[in-house]
Amino acid sequence: MANIYEKTTTAPVNIAVVKYWGKRDTSLILPTNSSLSVTLSQDQLQSKTTIRVSKDFKATRLWLNGIEETNVENNQRLQACLRATRLLRKEYENSLAISGHVNIPPLSEWNLHICSENNFPTAAGLASSASGFACLVYTLAKLFELPISATDLSRIARQGSGSACRSMFGGFVAWEMGDNTDGSDSQAVQIAPETHWPELEALICVVSDLKKGTSSTEGMQHTVKTSELLQHRISKVVPERMRGIKEAIKTRDFKKFAEITMRDSNQFHAVCVDTFPPIFYMNDVSRAIIRLITEYNNSGDETYKAAYTFDAGPNAVIYAQKENIKEIINLLAHYFPSTLDLNKEYFNDHAGLFSTDEKI
Ligand code: ADP
Ligand code: DP6
Ligand code: CO
Repeated sequence: MANIYEKTTTAPVNIAVVKYWGKRDTSLILPTNSSLSVTLSQDQLQSKTTIRVSKDFKATRLWLNGIEETNVENNQRLQACLRATRLLRKEYENSLAISGHVNIPPLSEWNLHICSENNFPTAAGLASSASGFACLVYTLAKLFELPISATDLSRIARQGSGSACRSMFGGFVAWEMGDNTDGSDSQAVQIAPETHWPELEALICVVSDLKKGTSSTEGMQHTVKTSELLQHRISKVVPERMRGIKEAIKTRDFKKFAEITMRDSNQFHAVCVDTFPPIFYMNDVSRAIIRLITEYNNSGDETYKAAYTFDAGPNAVIYAQKENIKEIINLLAHYFPSTLDLNKEYFNDHAGLFSTDEKI
């Protein structure tokens, strides 16, 4: 069909080891602290987004997991991502026109049909907003053929969902909070590629695939307004942890990596409980997993063998080195067999983004 352009890409999730929780600017999505995550392999968890653009489309529409979203025009975050990429496309169209190109399709002015699917539970604390918005922005960049870096894209994806900026890179990724009020320095930075620590793996334990009761966006706003502990975390705890975790990654020091990861997950959930009224993202099974991993770590010699972390939901992600993964799977399979459904095979390549498809 003439005048329809289409692109499909996929994007990975990332699971933070130093958590982002709190915004200093809710419309630009500027955080109250820096954070750091590991981008997971796309073998198990992935968003896949197809975007079509045509001058014949009457409106911009969005389908998420097969269901059409209503009120797309009022979806501020989606609109922020569309606005930013369309503006860049417009500049690109103008620059091509100035340099003598003719017949450049004015994609910046046409409506879009966006279709996205996650192959894992959405809004259940497994970072669907991260892979989802990273995928949206990356697909737009490809569709619009934007000459733009991953860092620049991370600042746009950040305006869809904060954690999405970190999914623009593979491996170990920091979101540097930045100082500027316009968000021009609040972006993702790759600390090390996935090849730096190939022994590190992540195991996903799905305790519940239900949509969480309190979205991350809503939860962190209540925390910013009411938690005293959050102020201590922002000023006294996170800066030191960011330094420590970068050092642990650089030296592949699993014990240090694990301790910071578990402490930071604990403090994030403590801050949720310190919110008034309190927010509970973990459940009894989540807490039982913490006890199991703690006992497992204390059962051997001085080093740790596993690190748990929980995002805003009851589901666990366990980081461990390859040599211990089988043992951990056996342990979890014994006590919590149903949580391992996603782990058909464990995985370790923290893949980045890639583009499939072509114009039709
Ligand atoms: P999660 O823990 O899964 O990140 P959040 O509460 O942060 O949960 O965000 C969930 C929201 O992210 C969804 O309700 C939806 O608005 C958005 N989202 C999730 N997946 C996608 C996707 N593939 N494309 C666009 N938006 C998505
Ligand atoms: C607990 O990025 O989902 O997963 O910016 O409001 O979309 P919004 O929130 P989101 O928050 C993620 C919180 C977290 C920790 C983290 O990923 O760093
Ligand atoms: Co999210």
